[in-house]
Amino acid sequence: MHDDIEQILISADELAHRTVELGEQITNDYRGRELLLVGVLKGAVPFLVDLARQIQLPLTIDFMAISSYGAGTASSGVVRLLKDLDGSVSGKHLVIVEDIVDSGLTLQYIRRHLELRGSASVRVCGLLWKERERAVEVPCDYVGFRIPDRFVVGYGLDYAERYRNLPYIGVLRPEIYATVPH
Ligand code: IMP
Ligand code: MG
Repeated sequence: MHDDIEQILISADELAHRTVELGEQITNDYRGRELLLVGVLKGAVPFLVDLARQIQLPLTIDFMAISSYGAGTASSGVVRLLKDLDGSVSGKHLVIVEDIVDSGLTLQYIRRHLELRGSASVRVCGLLWKERERAVEVPCDYVGFRIPDRFVVGYGLDYAERYRNLPYIGVLRPEIYATVPH
């Protein structure tokens, strides 16, 4: 285990197993339709590539980038669009793939942004769902794991752009927030 990690919350095996289940569920739900997976950069990338390989349907992939955190560990509440999708969503069945739903503000912004552009349907697949109070209620159709309200890293999730390459989801030692400049 990495020295900066206090506790492994979800192991690589558990991530792989759950991704297979989610892929089967999405395959069954979208049978006969063509899917567009919308990945939210950068945190959702490892999850998206693993999930996509477990979906037995014709599909395409596109990405958008959003900023809501800066380098800290608490959401700024201000959501900014950094990169829009390359292609059109008109008439397509979208599944937004997110790394984590924390306050829900990012997801609410993305959902609105995509629903207004004439897609046939929009659902969300979030790898992690933090158990906490939320000012906004955003539906998340597929949830990988419900986790306590701790700051986690790994498998795509970062602190100040680091730790995305850890193969598991771990709780970052709180003393790290104080020592990494941001
Ligand atoms: P929200 O808008 O508060 O729901 O935040 C969503 C975004 O914040 C996610 O896509 C992540 O990039 C980031 N985020 C939220 N919680 C964590 C965490 O525990 N670790 C790392 N990034 C997080
Ligand atoms: Mg982030």
